[in-house]
Amino acid sequence: MDSVTKRYPDGTVAVDRLTLEIPDRSITVLVGPSGCGKTTTLRMINRMVEPSEGTILLDGEDLQRQPVTTLRRSMGYVIQNAGLFQHRTILDNIATVPRMLGRGKQKSRERAAELMERVGLDASLGKRYPYQLSGGQQQRVGVARALAADPPVLLMDEPFSAVDPVVRKGLQDELLRIQDELGKTIVFVTHDIDEAIKLGTMVAVMRTGGRLAQFAPPAELLSDPADDFVEDFLGADRGIRRLSFFPSAALELTTGPVVRADAGAEQLAAADGAAHLLVTDADDRPLGWAAPDDLSAGDLAAGRLLPYGRPFVPGTDSLRAALDCAVLSPTGWAVAVDTDGRVTGVVSQQAIGEAIRTAHGAGNPGDARAEEPADITKVAP
Ligand SMILES: Nc1ncnc2c1ncn2[C@@H]1O[C@H](COP(=O)(O)OP(=O)(O)O)[C@@H](O)[C@H]1O
Ligand SMILES: [Mg+2]
Repeated sequence: MDSVTKRYPDGTVAVDRLTLEIPDRSITVLVGPSGCGKTTTLRMINRMVEPSEGTILLDGEDLQRQPVTTLRRSMGYVIQNAGLFQHRTILDNIATVPRMLGRGKQKSRERAAELMERVGLDASLGKRYPYQLSGGQQQRVGVARALAADPPVLLMDEPFSAVDPVVRKGLQDELLRIQDELGKTIVFVTHDIDEAIKLGTMVAVMRTGGRLAQFAPPAELLSDPADDFVEDFLGADRGIRRLSFFPSAALELTTGPVVRADAGAEQLAAADGAAHLLVTDADDRPLGWAAPDDLSAGDLAAGRLLPYGRPFVPGTDSLRAALDCAVLSPTGWAVAVDTDGRVTGVVSQQAIGEAIRTAHGAGNPGDARAEEPADITKVAP
C-alpha cells in the first residue's frame, strides 16, 4: 500500500496516507483502537472500498487494473460472526464457493468435507445449520469457507472477537497450525494487542485518524515501541512478554541435584552439596524437591517433598515459560522435562537470568514462524 488515503463522502478521513509492505506467505496484523481505519484498510485490499488517493499493488500489479471478480476470487474474506448463510447446511455453506467457480456438486462437497477436517470440525456437523453450532464452530466454518477456493490471500476482520477467551485461544492456535500447512498471505484485523502479538509475523499498529503508528515484528514492538501511544497500547509487562520470543533451548541444564526416589547412598553422596534435590520416580517423572536433611532419613518418597511447580520443555517452550517455572518453584530452580514428561535436568533462576541478559544483548530474535517461507515478496516494489 503506497500512501493510501480513504476519505468517505461525508468528509471522514478513515485512512490517512498509509504505506505498508505486506510480506507474502505470513500473517500481517492490523491492530488499533475502534474507528482507527482497520476495516477500511482491509476492504481496500479486495476493493470493497476504493481508495481516494494512493495505490495498492498486489505482486507488483496495480489493483485498479484487475477485474474485481478475479481479485475477490484470489482473496478469502472472514468476518466476525462468520456471516454464514443461515438457510444452508454447513457443508453447503463451505461448498458454495467451489460451486460458484464451476466445480461439480460432488467435487464441491468433497472439498468442503476435506476443509471441515482441516479446520477441526467433526464431519457429523456437515448436515447441521449454522444456528445449531456454537460461536467457535461457526467461526471455523467461516475460515473453511474462505479457504474453499484455495485463495493465496486471506483477509480476516476481527474473526475471533465475538467468542470467549478459551475458544478464541483454540481458534488462534488452529489458525497458526493451518498457516504452517498452507502458507497463505494473511491480513488479520483485531483490536486486541495480545492477539496481534501472538499471531502476527508483522504487526501494524494504527492510531485514530487512520495513521500508521508503527510497523514491526511483535518482539520489536515490545522492545522498542515507537512512541507513547504504542507503549500505552501494548500495556504492562512488555519485558516479560517479550521473553516469549526467545527459545529456552540454550539454557544449560544440570542433572547434579536430580535423584530417583530409590537412590542408593552412592547416588545421594554424588548429589551432596545441593541445597535441594529433585526427586523423581523410577520412570524419571518429577515427584518434588527434598531438603538434604530429609534425604539422610533414607525415605525419599515418603519424605515431605516440596511441589516442583510447572516444568518446562526446552526447545518447545520459551524463556518466558522457563522463568515462570523458576519463579513458581519454591527452590528457585526450574524443572526441565522432555515431551514425555521425563526430567532432563534443572536450571537455576540465576542461570535463566543470565540467559535473559544474553538474549537482550543479542537484540530482537528472528521470528521462528517467519523462518520457513523466506520468500518475502513485497507487495510494493
Ligand atoms: N461508509 C462510511 N461512511 C463514513 N464514515 C465511515 C464509513 N465507514 C467507516 N467510517 C468511519 O471511518 C473511520 C474508520 O472506520 P473503520 O475502518 O470501520 O475502523 P475500525 O475497523 O478500525 O474500527 C471511523 O471513524 C468510521 O466511523
Ligand atoms: Mg472494524
